Amino acid sequence: MTFSASFLDELRSRVPVSDIVGRRVKLKKQGREWKGLSPFNKERTPSFSVNDQKGFFHDFSSGKHGDIFTFLIETEGLSFPEAVEKIAELAGVPLPAASKEAEAFLAKRKNLYDVLEIATQFFESALASREGASARGYLSDRGVIPSTQREFRIGYAPLNRFALKEFLGSKGISVAEMIEAGLLINGEDIPVPYDRFRDRIIIPIQDQRGHVIAFGGRTLNSDVQPKYLNSPETPLFHKSHTVFNFHRARAPAQKEAMLIAVEGYLDAISVYQAGVKNVVALMGTAFTEDQIQTLWRLAGEPIICLDGDNAGRAAAERSLDRILPLIRTGVSFRYAFLPKGTDPDEMIRNYGLDKFRAVISDASPFWDMLWEREFQRMGEIRTPDQKAVFEKKLISLVALIGDQLLRESYRKRARAQLVALFKSLDWEAAIKKPKQKSFLNRELLLEPKEPLVSIEKILLGTLIEYPDLLEIHLDRLMNIELSSELEQFKCEIYRIFEEFDGVDVVNFYKYIHEDFHKILADVHGRVDANGRIIPTALYARFPMLKLDPPQDFVSQCVELFFLKLELRQIRRECSQLHLDPVRMSNDDELGRATALSQESVNMQGKIAQLDLDLANIAQELRGSGKSGLQLMPSSESAQRHGISTAHA
Ligand code: GTP
Ligand code: MN
Repeated sequence: MTFSASFLDELRSRVPVSDIVGRRVKLKKQGREWKGLSPFNKERTPSFSVNDQKGFFHDFSSGKHGDIFTFLIETEGLSFPEAVEKIAELAGVPLPAASKEAEAFLAKRKNLYDVLEIATQFFESALASREGASARGYLSDRGVIPSTQREFRIGYAPLNRFALKEFLGSKGISVAEMIEAGLLINGEDIPVPYDRFRDRIIIPIQDQRGHVIAFGGRTLNSDVQPKYLNSPETPLFHKSHTVFNFHRARAPAQKEAMLIAVEGYLDAISVYQAGVKNVVALMGTAFTEDQIQTLWRLAGEPIICLDGDNAGRAAAERSLDRILPLIRTGVSFRYAFLPKGTDPDEMIRNYGLDKFRAVISDASPFWDMLWEREFQRMGEIRTPDQKAVFEKKLISLVALIGDQLLRESYRKRARAQLVALFKSLDWEAAIKKPKQKSFLNRELLLEPKEPLVSIEKILLGTLIEYPDLLEIHLDRLMNIELSSELEQFKCEIYRIFEEFDGVDVVNFYKYIHEDFHKILADVHGRVDANGRIIPTALYARFPMLKLDPPQDFVSQCVELFFLKLELRQIRRECSQLHLDPVRMSNDDELGRATALSQESVNMQGKIAQLDLDLANIAQELRGSGKSGLQLMPSSESAQRHGISTAHA
């Protein structure tokens, strides 16, 4: 029904906005306006206001704004005519009489609704009949239980090409009406129109009030094409305005302020049956503006959950362009991706509802999807030219956002992320070509003076030599990732330590697996044919040990080695983070990357200080009476190290 502007104005003047809003939101008078908590967002301080003089409400938290009709449409999910009817009823204003043509049009529509209702009942009873046995079997195989079948009014279209036509005829419905309702196949070259749906599962498509307006017919047999046969466009059914399961999902979605949009009818049915009732299905078409607006009536940030295949991915990418100009402050979308090769129905049946919920709660924000799509499309971003192209593309996309506040917010985010990305790409390039001079992050790229592998060996050697230190630092040691050969050695040390509580060095050599003797020798030195110890690695690399320094000094050295290795680990993690655009576009991860960078800077400072301190102490030690010590370990010390026992 269409209403005249004067009728709508009359309702607006009779019914204060605060009356309509006040039924749902607790309002407090504040000057000329009313204030309250937003019905669109959870909030503690009121940002929602109503102005009766001007006849509108405004919600600062979501940017929503409108009059009495809009309010009902937004909060109760009503259509415009429904909102008008409801307000007229509340105000006790009779609805205007419709014009002759309008009445005729409405009567015809009403008639079509009846035709579709009768057809629905026919399909429902066919499913229950003998003919419907294989369809029932199919549904049961797919796990659609009978109560769900009834709730969704699922039916079966018999194989006989005149079954429905004859049934509707017997109810006094003309062939012209059947054609108008989209139920028959007809055309100039078809002498006798016949049923459109034959031997298919029938899924009724309902409008926002629950009236059947069309059907989706699915084959029972995967050889038959097409898989789905849908009703054509009719006076009742406009595919681009329709969202499957809207009327059932409305209340649950508004209650939970969350809506899931899946691809397939059967996916929606399966998700709904599993207990997630705030689910709708898109119509297997490109996402239209009308459908987008419809979804926003149910939730501020509907989650688009697409199949984990290429088609799903492509559909998601296309939808971004449709949605981008329409997003506003407080209204957007999220994207959830299922594992490769699964759709929501399979996900729930094979992995359970919790896994599906986990995917949903992991949905990516709209911006992340947009960023990732553009990033993927760019391929290589290395040269200044490529960077500029990428930047320009992103900025021009952001410029399409209609809402100024949101556009600004996106622009800021884009700039910040571009800076971070370019930095990390430069970094990556510099890591790949260490010879090339990098102007960025030079500090971070500098290799420490000693090769770290050697530090790893010295550290392990020292810890074996000083089991007290090993005990103190065992957990710390396990947390550091060493180069692969030493990593195993480290685990061996751990094993022995755990297994033989408080091992001393001598015994250590007994327990350690033969495979590691070579490393040990490398670390500690060897015994030559004459039984003389040839000091290799450890003493050559850590000559201070020859001076048998105080344990305090050794423990500070150990601290230094640990810090150096831990710094390397942090840098590795940091660069992995920076190189992953998906993670970098996540606020938490971005925060973590920043924290890691900060920590690495702090550690560098500590290391520099400790290095300096130790150098001074070492000088003192060398200068003291100990300077006369032999270059070779004393025999006592050799024994303590158990070197001769190891290879004797
Ligand atoms: P199942 O494959 O049985 O799980 O069905 P589904 O409902 O989950 O559908 P699917 O994910 O394969 O497809 C998503 C949606 O695209 C369907 O619900 C239909 O709306 C539409 N669609 C799929 N195949 C066809 C087709 O062959 N023709 C038409 N017109 N639409 C189709
Ligand atoms: Mn499916």
